[in-house]
Amino acid sequence: MTKFEKEVAARVAANPHNEPLCASAAAFVRSSISAMYSYNYSWLGRPVIQYPQDMMAMQEIIWKVKPDLIIETGIAHGGSLIFSASMLALLDVCDAGTGIAATTLRRKVLGIDIDIRPHNRAAIEAHPMASRIQMIQGSSIAPEILEQVKQVAADYQRVLVCLDSNHTHDHVLAELKAYAPLTTRDSYCVVFDTIVEDLPAELAFDRPWGHGNNPKTAVWEYLKAHHEFEIDKSIQHKLLITVAPDGFLKRVV
Ligand SMILES: C[S@@+](CC[C@H](N)C(=O)[O-])C[C@H]1O[C@@H](n2cnc3c(N)ncnc32)[C@H](O)[C@@H]1O
Repeated sequence: MTKFEKEVAARVAANPHNEPLCASAAAFVRSSISAMYSYNYSWLGRPVIQYPQDMMAMQEIIWKVKPDLIIETGIAHGGSLIFSASMLALLDVCDAGTGIAATTLRRKVLGIDIDIRPHNRAAIEAHPMASRIQMIQGSSIAPEILEQVKQVAADYQRVLVCLDSNHTHDHVLAELKAYAPLTTRDSYCVVFDTIVEDLPAELAFDRPWGHGNNPKTAVWEYLKAHHEFEIDKSIQHKLLITVAPDGFLKRVV
């Protein structure tokens, strides 16, 4: 670690003990969720339903892991697929610049969504990043969809997983059981919207998930039996503003 990196790590480790900072970040998260803040952004022209802080964390993870496949459940308008594809394109550019031989398979993103709306599919397929994107329509936990996902993943060495579809406990737990094992060692399985557990009931927005039934409760249950993953708390301690507290799961075994 360089001196600068040590200073960053020390600041990040101090963050959770900084009560005014944590309180103001939590207050911002609560009021920004009711203002639908995460719906206001786009990446390379496609709407992405994420907080900018989480996208910065994903950029840091992707640079560190250098995945050749990113699997994402939950496509919506396609912004997160385009983000991942553009990061993988940059990794390929960097490999070319350093003289690392191109792998036989180009890095790519595999997205799964139960309902890929025709206008979203058309816009994603017309995007300059489209050649790096494969989409599968169907429930992320349906056996026939999982079979296709596993077939794709079998050809790749470094796999990163992002779960951002239906946010009920049972669905995310089923996704974790199916997709987390595809995460390769030292890579991450990122579970979005774990923040639901920390929100007041009035912010549930009439959704089937809520306090006690959400991605964070699914993560906690999954981790009881899966010690090959650890929550990388340093990421949430750095971000403070994130929809994925306890959702950055690092595969350590
Ligand atoms: C929060 S959005 C995804 C946002 C996207 N990852 C982004 O960052 O822009 C959730 C998506 O999950 C999809 N979805 C809901 N239930 C699903 C399921 N059972 N299987 C797969 N996708 C599902 C919805 O159709 C919706 O497009």
